[in-house]
Amino acid sequence: MEVVLRTYIRAPYITRKLAEAAGLAEHVKRVGNLADGRILVVDDSKSLAPGSMALFKGVVIPPEVETAEQPLAEFETELVVLKVSPYDEHMATIVRETEILRHLAGIPGIPEVVGDGEVPIVTHKEIFGMDMQTTKTARFVAYRYLPGQLVHKLRVSNDLGWAKELKKVELLLTQVLPGLAARLAQIHEKNVVHHDVHPGNALFHEQKGVSVLDFGLANLLGDPPTIERGRGAFGYYPPELIDGPAPTEDFRIDVYGLGVSVFTLVTGLKGIAYTNMPLNPWETGVYPNESVARNYYGSIQALSHLTPERLIAESNLPDDLKNTELGKYLGNLIHPNAALRPAEMGKIALRLQQIGGSFFGGEVHL
Ligand SMILES: Nc1ncnc2c1ncn2[C@@H]1O[C@H](COP(=O)(O)OP(=O)(O)O)[C@@H](O)[C@H]1O
Ligand SMILES: [Mg+2]
Repeated sequence: MEVVLRTYIRAPYITRKLAEAAGLAEHVKRVGNLADGRILVVDDSKSLAPGSMALFKGVVIPPEVETAEQPLAEFETELVVLKVSPYDEHMATIVRETEILRHLAGIPGIPEVVGDGEVPIVTHKEIFGMDMQTTKTARFVAYRYLPGQLVHKLRVSNDLGWAKELKKVELLLTQVLPGLAARLAQIHEKNVVHHDVHPGNALFHEQKGVSVLDFGLANLLGDPPTIERGRGAFGYYPPELIDGPAPTEDFRIDVYGLGVSVFTLVTGLKGIAYTNMPLNPWETGVYPNESVARNYYGSIQALSHLTPERLIAESNLPDDLKNTELGKYLGNLIHPNAALRPAEMGKIALRLQQIGGSFFGGEVHL
């Protein structure tokens, strides 16, 4: 989606210095002042990452910067990410995300909200070959930029296979995945179901560990189900969500997402498939539509009666992993029968840590 903020920040001096200090392009624009008077400015010339909404990198700067003559680097600035959209459905998500993040404030590795509100934007649409501009009000949330690499980037290469990528597997099993589970456990302790757990929504940093992003679908346990706002990422949301709202929110939704994340990261495969599937959606290469998703999850639900061991035996997990502790445990995390899936993320973190430890025999710290 192309979104352009309407208001340019006034002083050209600041924009130039900002560009230097924060590695941003020169066209920095002012979003507004935060409650504490600091100014939020972002680079809206390019989106930070592909996604459903526009995401811009920016900084918050003290108000004195606007009139000062010294370089911006001498002021305390803070890198932020701005998520912004003018569409009703997205705006509801942004409001929800902001609420949930405020509820989770204080947990490390969770985006910290620095401001939210509304901002005028310009959207472009091509009509009969002409560029039509419209000014709209968009909703935004700005949160502190979190350092680290997208966990998705740490997956092993499917061509080489896990056994030839032991360094990556070690990092994943001893640090990244137990760290992700431990972070989710902290989120669950605050009664929040994330609802969109996958390797594109987590970051890993050597010193800071795992961060969890993207709380647009998150929900409080006990609140009405969020399903009407979308189900999450295909393959990562559990089969019980395919048929409309779940009866109640459940931590096992995140357990399934974590299980599939373990599976895809360690194997390099795009998703889980089973021998009973007439069509493996991961081999067709197209983004699955509603009917593909129904077929896929229907085949998975047909396996609900299997034991976790049998389930894994029927899966596309590489044969040499099927009889390992990891393989056996995965059969629990990704079980289509939610009742057979463990729910306590804290225990899952410990179990993954043990499994990583026994794979690699080293000391493991969370
Ligand atoms: N606080 C943040 N710090 C660093 N990178 C972020 C932050 N928030 C988002 N990102 C980057 O933007 C991408 C998309 O953000 P996300 O919240 O998942 O939005 P979407 O709803 O579009 O998936 C992430 O995968 C990550 O690369
Ligand atoms: Mg995301």
